Amino acid sequence: MEQLNLPPLFHASGVVRLPGSKSISNRMLLLAALAEGTTEIRDLLDSDDTRVMLDALQKVGVGVTAIGTNAYRVDGCAGRFPVKDADLFMGNAGTAIRPLTAALALSGGSYRLSGVPRMHERPIGDLVDGLLQIGTDVRYTGNPGFPPLAIGPATISLQGPIRARGDVSSQFLTALLMALPLTGEQAVIEMTTELISKPYIEITLNLMARFGVRVEREGWQRFTIPAGQRYCSPGLLHVEGDASSASYFLAAGAIAGGPVRVEGIGRQSIQGDVRFADELEKLGARITWGDNFIEARAPESDKLRAFDLDFNHIPDAAMTLAVAALFTDGRCVLRNIASWRVKETDRISAMATELRKLGATVEEGGDWLAVSMSRGDPANAVSPAPTFVPNAAIDTYDDHRMAMCFSLAALGGVPVTINDPKCVAKTFPDYFDAFAEVTAPVIAIDGPSASGKGTVAERVAAKLGYHYLDSGSLYRLTALAAIRAGVALDDEAGVAPLAATLPATFEGGRILLSGDDVTEAIRTEEISAGSSKVAALPAVRAALLDRQRAYRRFPGLVADGRDMGSVVFPGATAKVFLTASAEARAERRYKQLIAKGMSANIHALLQDLQERDARDAQRSVAPLKQSDDAELVDTTPLGIEEAVAAVMTIVERQQM
Ligand code: DC
Repeated sequence: MEQLNLPPLFHASGVVRLPGSKSISNRMLLLAALAEGTTEIRDLLDSDDTRVMLDALQKVGVGVTAIGTNAYRVDGCAGRFPVKDADLFMGNAGTAIRPLTAALALSGGSYRLSGVPRMHERPIGDLVDGLLQIGTDVRYTGNPGFPPLAIGPATISLQGPIRARGDVSSQFLTALLMALPLTGEQAVIEMTTELISKPYIEITLNLMARFGVRVEREGWQRFTIPAGQRYCSPGLLHVEGDASSASYFLAAGAIAGGPVRVEGIGRQSIQGDVRFADELEKLGARITWGDNFIEARAPESDKLRAFDLDFNHIPDAAMTLAVAALFTDGRCVLRNIASWRVKETDRISAMATELRKLGATVEEGGDWLAVSMSRGDPANAVSPAPTFVPNAAIDTYDDHRMAMCFSLAALGGVPVTINDPKCVAKTFPDYFDAFAEVTAPVIAIDGPSASGKGTVAERVAAKLGYHYLDSGSLYRLTALAAIRAGVALDDEAGVAPLAATLPATFEGGRILLSGDDVTEAIRTEEISAGSSKVAALPAVRAALLDRQRAYRRFPGLVADGRDMGSVVFPGATAKVFLTASAEARAERRYKQLIAKGMSANIHALLQDLQERDARDAQRSVAPLKQSDDAELVDTTPLGIEEAVAAVMTIVERQQM
């Protein structure tokens, strides 16, 4: 079995662009298929669960064409699937099997739906009961009440309301609501129980409306779909970011400093899970809402408050709060979460088992969970901190959310192992990279030309076992690429696209541009001067931003360059400004050149450095200066190893 070892983590900050919402992606795909006309869907989630839906639609003959990254064209078939007989594999995707079952049952074809073993343990009986009331032919081919299912053609009759339960999963109601307009007749659904997870029904109704179908709702009790409605493509649709996936990053910001910003959701979101941010706020976290972002920071006191709350409205995001509970100041109770028992795994039981491995005391009920974290000796501290058991190996039960939630435990400052980390592919294949981009420690090192920062940074990285980013080389590569492409170095609109798509690779100390070794070529005087020109172009700096941030990986990063601590990694764990007198730097460069057998003049070198310092300090974009929060290391009297030791002292102090 694969394992991921997370290092001890202490601080979270940064920006995450969220992948598309699973709930919205799979609903939009199906509605586009059930509609008349062609729909273009952008920012679709690329994950196991959406692939299940895409594959199934293609198998039943719906025209689905990839037209770019995460963009698809769906040629609607108005609910009349061209392929009338098919076997469909649904993996463990509840958002695919439930609504597809309903739509296929009304389509007049013969289909068999099955999934992974866990899918065959997840209930579907309440949906099938609803479908049988209107004359569809849906049969259990395994255990009654559970997939696999066989569907056949049937005569549909919509006499009287469909009576359906809504206390096990809201997806049964979603499935009925999305499929019933295919009949063209008036359809009424009456709930016979309390409806859970209501915000998911709001997503369903919202998206149906975008495809032109209106549902009349009386409370959460009775839903009427007036006769004569058809789904019509709205043309172009965008999928908003996944609010459930956002919960891990927002929690990280609330637990470990922040700010952590998630982009792709905000005030305008139609997903109920954005309300997770309100719950975090109740714990004391500081939350900021934008139209297209949410940001979380730790409370002013730095301590999250214990809670006792009902989470029926955010069942998925609530799992994140079960792990966040470890970081609060007392016993936390999560209530009204019975649906956890029928998800990817029995999440109440799985959560209890794994939280205990970290040192928590956990009580478990049919629909609730209580979590109390063990603490340091109260005699030794006013408010003892939670004590995490190091090196816990967390089992994930083939449940993406278990894996994502428990990554937060490393913020307790202990190493944590996640078993079978790839299960995150269900909804967020790149989750751990994104998590590293806001939690992996960063040591930012800046300083003037020839201060030795490159050498020192590289050695500090080697000592810590961290990755190393020589950001100057990216500006140098950009200058070289521009010169090779015949683009003028001050042509901002021409150079920026080259920076954005730089075909550069770094292989064991060698630097390649389009496969060509340019390690020496980017160190010439011409390129030094050229890189300083392109580095002054704001569009070039913006184009390199994401690329530089992607270097932030576990177990950590040493980043060397001008704006590492101010713009690229403002939340860096440690910021160092490495300098030396101009005379000392000129002398070092002189010795380097002589050692290489080149001729050099120390006076010319000194003058050159002084001029460059002045130019660098005065430029308007990313000028050379020691930022307020950076610690100064003057290497004038130090050898390389002493300079490395001085930086290591700063790093170790910051990581306490
Ligand atoms: O560190 P270096 O000499 O390799 O950097 C090359 C040029 O790029 C130099 O003019 C400084 C500039 N630079 C920058 O503006 N921002 C960075 N993060 C790194 C380098």
